[in-house]
Amino acid sequence: MCGIFGIVTDAEQPLGPILTDAARRLTYRGYDSVGAATISGGTIDLRKDAGRVDDVAEKYDFSEMTGSRGITRLRWATFGTPSQVNAQPHLDSDGDLVGAHNGNVVNNVELRQAFMAEGMTVRSENDGESCVHAVERYLDRGLDFIPAIQNAYQDLEGDYAFVIGRINDDKLYAFKKGSGLVVGIGEGFTCVSSDLPSILPLTRQVIRLEDGEIVTLRADQVELHSVKDGSLIDRQPEVITETMASVQKEGYEHFMLKEIHEQPVVAGELLHRLAGDQPLVRQIVDGIAKARNVYFIGCGTSYHACLAGAVYAAQLAGRAVIPVMAPQFAPQYGNAVQPGDVGVFVSQSGETKDVLNALEVAQARGMTCFSMANVIGSTLTRKTEAWLPLVCGYEISVPATKTFTNQVISFLYLAARLGGVEDLDFGQLPGLMAETIRITDPQVQALVPKLNTWENLYCLGYGATFPFALEGALKLKEITYSHCEGMLSTEFKHGPLSAVTDGFPVLFVAGPEDVPLIISGINEVTCRGGEAIAIG
Ligand code: F6R
Repeated sequence: MCGIFGIVTDAEQPLGPILTDAARRLTYRGYDSVGAATISGGTIDLRKDAGRVDDVAEKYDFSEMTGSRGITRLRWATFGTPSQVNAQPHLDSDGDLVGAHNGNVVNNVELRQAFMAEGMTVRSENDGESCVHAVERYLDRGLDFIPAIQNAYQDLEGDYAFVIGRINDDKLYAFKKGSGLVVGIGEGFTCVSSDLPSILPLTRQVIRLEDGEIVTLRADQVELHSVKDGSLIDRQPEVITETMASVQKEGYEHFMLKEIHEQPVVAGELLHRLAGDQPLVRQIVDGIAKARNVYFIGCGTSYHACLAGAVYAAQLAGRAVIPVMAPQFAPQYGNAVQPGDVGVFVSQSGETKDVLNALEVAQARGMTCFSMANVIGSTLTRKTEAWLPLVCGYEISVPATKTFTNQVISFLYLAARLGGVEDLDFGQLPGLMAETIRITDPQVQALVPKLNTWENLYCLGYGATFPFALEGALKLKEITYSHCEGMLSTEFKHGPLSAVTDGFPVLFVAGPEDVPLIISGINEVTCRGGEAIAIG
């Protein structure tokens, strides 16, 4: 998700510590590079590199940076590898503009070529630099800042937000299209950031920007304009009175609900990230293709993702994979592992001891080990040869939701690449997910009174949906404290069916190819007076 933050103050002052603190508050969104720029009169001080906030800030003495305007940016690589030159913020050709963006400019490659053809100095491969040049292009043609941004908006395709400033000026400008942007108004300063929680320690007076809005920040005033016609927008600041925790929940009753609703967004971020990191994808796919045996290893929810991954690898790529619960790996397969085998270790936290123990055994036996994890810098990511980031930001709720989704999508993506399957339209996924959440919400609400009187439930699936039945059962147990057993739907008739009494609810998870089989399972339940609930 990455993050940007910009501040305008009424006097020159040490801005480095303020920018470093703001960057720290944005780290939960995930990043691999850090940068800060301050503007003081006619000079821009720009310091940036790949690495952790505290390391980069110390190495480049962010604490020394002064000015009356500052920008910081955490970058998570999509266009261009994590490096000093690709880190943000970026300068324009002459070094008198500095800016940073958040999000994805999808026509970045074409734009960079056009900028170079027009004689601009393009230093990086990063799409944040394209935002700066897109504004530079129109300032150089003599336009004022607001019209320049209006024109840049026409050129920059994708979803993004950016903040930009110029030497010998007293303002910063920011624009929102798709990515989040919030303005803060304090005593002697104004600021803008990707999210509200990173502003709240500075001020509780905020204005939330809508898509298509440009904000001009002065130390004592903010002004909003429409990108369409440049007209002034009148919006009064609101005062945030909620606690930090409730602000972080963004209006949802609890974090789990919020994180369920974040799934489409983080899925989109993941897909963009995978598309932009083909060398990493190739390394893992080639490793799996050439391996003698392949193991997918995890615990709990992450193990269920491994199960789904094994189904996809077999169905899409004809590759047999052994999915295994991490603690069972050493006792069952420890002796069987040899050099030439490949393991993909899956963990949201990257710190689950059972997973790390399995990794140690696997590495001692010469296995090539890759991982999938959400927490950057976690032990698992440091100990494996290559790791795929899950790109979910913080998962605060203990029950895993969005990280499971992105684990499953990552496996699906790898399997499609492994099998050379070209016709899976991953681009549609985030929209379909958002639509699914929207249309199923009332049905889910209606089911709650039906289900919450039962102390025992079954959740059944088959084939590709079997891992999801297990995961659904785990979620129901973990959240309701009632028992729920996940099972292969065809196994139900071999005994458990006798538990069905009048009204007893049984949940079925059905994929399109298994509908006839699931219907026969449903009949077995309903003819005994049970109540079948199908998710399809
Ligand atoms: C269930 C859940 C747990 C974790 C398991 C592994 O909602 O969150 O089952 O999946 O403890 O944790 P990670 O993925 O961090 O290794």
